Amino acid sequence: MKRQLLTTFVVVCCSLFTWAATLPVIPAPVSTTEGEGYFEFDEGTVFSVENAEQLKAAELFVSHFGDCAGFLPAVGIGIDGGNVVFTTDSSIPAEGYKLNVAADRIDIKAADTPGFFYALQTLRQLLPGAFDGCKLQDGIRWQVPVMQVEDCPRFGYRSLMVDVARYFLPKSELLKLIDVAAMLKINKLHLHLVDDTGWRIEIKRYPRLMQVGAWRMHRDEPFPARPNQRPGETPNEGGYYTQDDIRDIVAFAAERQIEVIPEIEMPAHTNSSLAAYPELACPSVGEPITVLPGGGGRNTQFIYCAGNDSVFTFLQNILDEVMELFPSRYIHLGGDEAVKTYWGRCPRCKARMEAEHLANLEDLQGYFMERMSDYVRSKGKTPLGWDELTNHKLPDGIVICGWRGFGEAATKAAAQGHKFVMTPARVLYFIRYQGPQWFEPVTYFGNITLKNVYEYEPVQPKWAPEYEDLLMGVQASMWTEFCRSADDVQYLLFPRLLAAAEVAWCPKGVKDWEEFLHRTDAVLPHLDAMGINYARSMFNIDHKLTPNDGKITVEMSCIRPDVEIRYTTDGKEPAQDSKLYKKPFDLKKATVVKAATFRSGKQEGKTLTLNVTFNKATGREVTSDVANDYVLTNGLRGSDRHTDFEWTGWYGKDGSFTVDLGKRTSIKKVTLGCLTNSGMGVHTPSEIRLSVSDDNKRFRQVASAKHSHEDVFKVRTAIEDEVFDLNTRGRYLKVEFTNPGKCPVGDFKEGQDVWIYFDEIIVE
Ligand code: ACM
Ligand code: ZN
Repeated sequence: MKRQLLTTFVVVCCSLFTWAATLPVIPAPVSTTEGEGYFEFDEGTVFSVENAEQLKAAELFVSHFGDCAGFLPAVGIGIDGGNVVFTTDSSIPAEGYKLNVAADRIDIKAADTPGFFYALQTLRQLLPGAFDGCKLQDGIRWQVPVMQVEDCPRFGYRSLMVDVARYFLPKSELLKLIDVAAMLKINKLHLHLVDDTGWRIEIKRYPRLMQVGAWRMHRDEPFPARPNQRPGETPNEGGYYTQDDIRDIVAFAAERQIEVIPEIEMPAHTNSSLAAYPELACPSVGEPITVLPGGGGRNTQFIYCAGNDSVFTFLQNILDEVMELFPSRYIHLGGDEAVKTYWGRCPRCKARMEAEHLANLEDLQGYFMERMSDYVRSKGKTPLGWDELTNHKLPDGIVICGWRGFGEAATKAAAQGHKFVMTPARVLYFIRYQGPQWFEPVTYFGNITLKNVYEYEPVQPKWAPEYEDLLMGVQASMWTEFCRSADDVQYLLFPRLLAAAEVAWCPKGVKDWEEFLHRTDAVLPHLDAMGINYARSMFNIDHKLTPNDGKITVEMSCIRPDVEIRYTTDGKEPAQDSKLYKKPFDLKKATVVKAATFRSGKQEGKTLTLNVTFNKATGREVTSDVANDYVLTNGLRGSDRHTDFEWTGWYGKDGSFTVDLGKRTSIKKVTLGCLTNSGMGVHTPSEIRLSVSDDNKRFRQVASAKHSHEDVFKVRTAIEDEVFDLNTRGRYLKVEFTNPGKCPVGDFKEGQDVWIYFDEIIVE
């Protein structure tokens, strides 16, 4: 094994040690010194530990040898002849460790069991990847390099959240994730057990939560476009963890130093429990409540009645069972995205507001959350909640998870002295695309690459200094709306979880992206051995095509600096000897560009195909009041994902744009690429008008098209070209369009504004 010594950095947080990323380990240890030679594990290896907890950690580690090496090192408390020796050293920071590997002996020192466990995880990653497989291997030497490591975490709260409500992850698959998370020194698993889409934990007192709340209609459509349950349909998809399952999960995680934190959502995001016990919803709901297969439209607004004392009794009884099952000191009470339409219409909620002198519906949520939070605290536990809780008076002692945007709302809690955890949607929501979208399975919103996660620094320069002390840590949040299998979950999680683990563990300000990639490459064989379906999106090519005075400038990039981009313009597949991309180049005519990344002669990423076409508008300048309008004349069509950076959009408003054709030109046909994606609230305009001008001042309307309300809102995902046959001339072509207004009753996005997107204007 060859290792390169990399830059040494001065540590900020962990004053005990000096940070130097040298070993192929993730997260990078704080300090490493490498020596000569190796320690080899074999049948003669003896682990000598001090107590029963260390024994468990050691036994877990050596059990791998039983699976893959065919021998089982001895492990014992105070056993003679130990050559892997554990010694408690209370001067080492919590969860930290010192590891001294000599050719004939390994010494591990730590102040606590997690420290010993993490030392073993470091050794685990330094062993061949096959150590994490369960296949017996021949011909492997189970060696780790001679070295000294001193290590401790930046944050005490290093969390992975898994949403098992949108996709019910089988227990065995959850255990697999826990094992990988533990290898990455993550120490919290936040289980999102409840949502509109399913109730996932057995509660003995309320059997209908399992009989009704755990089941929904299977739908083939992507999450946002799934119709709600129709009358007469019997839910056929779902499941829940039994209390025995939960005990297994908690115990499995505890052996791996992971604390499992349950989240019971309230007062909203809980159609699952309301479908089971509809009497707990506001009477103003006034219609059947079902578990939602997908986005749910208006039905996501169904909510527990804050004026009904039985709701609080119900939730307290549930929490009693939950707290019995989860030894965690934390209980997450949700509190996010509670739309209060039905509270506003509910006589009971109104009466509550009067009795409690609550000024508005936000304060009513404050009352709700405080009452439940006080209950949790009365049991000696610490409540957690999403950052919407900063919209009202914060319950005493609650810890806030900052998620919206960059999670800034959590600092409102910090300003009031509350502790908080950062899981910003813009960086740590792994539901988002992890690379160029044309290569990715359909999911939500924009892109969060491995690099974006790696480069995330939770402490912002504008923060008051005391906020940093209140920041407990960071969380990678795995929302599963678009997952239909454990493979799907793994694909979105990995390798990004490696970067998140690094953010959570490593000292502030010591990032080196390229060095992190080398360590990632070294750790991936362990994921291979575990059968983890990780993404290779980091090898794919991003493109940007920009109009440039009648030409198209082609830019390509890859987040990995250690690959070459090779490309062709003759339609051939790119190969190692294809032209090397060094800098942007111009196209003057229709061209098919094919490109891929290569390393050591091997194609690493998928082949990017840019089918660039030319028409009278191609390469011409566009003016409008929105960003990215250059895509309209860049010669490239978008995919059916409006977030693929080939579409430009207008939200909730009429709009227009003008193309300068460069000179007075005959115009016989205009094609405008329009998108409808009903699930995402993307629709065509209700009216489009074209006009032309020679001076960009006086325009003459030359065509128009109208679409009926029914046409616009007919459910579909489709790229539809609006074609105008004309016989006119002009230099400037203006496109004006009318927004069709709010999404109608019954629509996936009922009551919300409409997005209008165009990808290209084609002038012939
Ligand atoms: C959330 O993403 N609604 C917490
Ligand atoms: Zn109510």
